[in-house]
Amino acid sequence: MILPIIMAGGSGTRLWPLSRGNYPKQFLKLHGENTMLQETISRLNGLEHSPVMLICNEEHRFIAAEQVRQLDVKHSGIFLEPVGRNTAPAIALAAFKAIENNEDPLLLVLAADHVIEHQAAFLESVEKAKSLALQGKLVTFGIVGNTPETGYGYIKRGEAIENGFVVNSFVEKPDLSTAKQYIASGDYYWNSGMFLFKASRYLEELKAFRPDIYSACEKAVEVQNSDMDFVRVDKAAFEACPDESIDYAVMEHTKDAVVVPMDAGWNDVGGFAALWEVSEKDENGNAFIGDVKSVDTKNTLVFGEDKLVSTVGVEDLVIVNTKDAVLVAHKNESQKVKEVVNQLKRDQ
Ligand code: GDD
Ligand code: MG
Repeated sequence: MILPIIMAGGSGTRLWPLSRGNYPKQFLKLHGENTMLQETISRLNGLEHSPVMLICNEEHRFIAAEQVRQLDVKHSGIFLEPVGRNTAPAIALAAFKAIENNEDPLLLVLAADHVIEHQAAFLESVEKAKSLALQGKLVTFGIVGNTPETGYGYIKRGEAIENGFVVNSFVEKPDLSTAKQYIASGDYYWNSGMFLFKASRYLEELKAFRPDIYSACEKAVEVQNSDMDFVRVDKAAFEACPDESIDYAVMEHTKDAVVVPMDAGWNDVGGFAALWEVSEKDENGNAFIGDVKSVDTKNTLVFGEDKLVSTVGVEDLVIVNTKDAVLVAHKNESQKVKEVVNQLKRDQ
């Protein structure tokens, strides 16, 4: 049986000021009727699976619980991390939990903040990956990329194996010139950040490559404390865990990685330019959310929260108006809002 693990502990700083520390990207309605987290859970309709397990930060427990409640789906608990230690430890906690009672389910590890336009294609790739994962492979889902994004993992495709390909190499977040080479070669997929593997296989590989993370998480789950739907682990043990992503900790090193391609209109909405891409636009290429009046405006993204926003004679802008902060950025430079967030953190 497949056990979906939804990782919802990221901070989404590249979408500031829409995404905030106390209300990050995965909990926002950025695309469609539902929040990104709700979309992620709803996308599983049609797949045979056990109730989803959510893993997020302690700070966001009520937001997460309320959003799951609104969907009215069964879940198997909300794991709370006392601090964010990135995805390798988050998945380890879930994997340790999953193997309690001598079970060893397939974990379908999902990011909570992606847009996927074609649900059927998504589900089809997951079905295709099942048999490989049951054989002990660590499956990643590969996206055909066409631009040299440096924020992604790159997967070099090797020989065919069942419905996928052996992974010849996995490189997390290469520099720009390397990413350009990869894209030009045509031999690489982007890593979608979604995985399918047996809980036990993930833990074995983590133990082999990052025994420090493995033992910290093993120790952390020894003391579990359940309170309503929430499951807490030993705070001090988890705080002592190194901070690392699954990509660096395991996927770059394992010899058992396999990539199954996915062509499902995937977008990780990594910044405002991507958000503009996936948003519905008018005939001038404008995506306006909220009360917006515009004259001679093109290819602009506006989020107006509680005031009227008006634009005149501009193009390629991102304007985000929230109750306590306003962002005006060039669409092609909007990745740099991360630097504003860093400045704010320094000033605190
Ligand atoms: N529970 C939990 N705890 N979740 C976390 C944590 C954490 O400490 N840190 C991040 N997450 C969640 C985020 O909310 C997101 O849903 C997912 O895990 C991935 O984290 P990101 O921080 O968004 O990773 P990334 O975008 O830099 O890189 C990953 O995704 C890319 C595709 O979007 C990698 O897997 C790349 O290889 C991949 O290309
Ligand atoms: Mg991401």
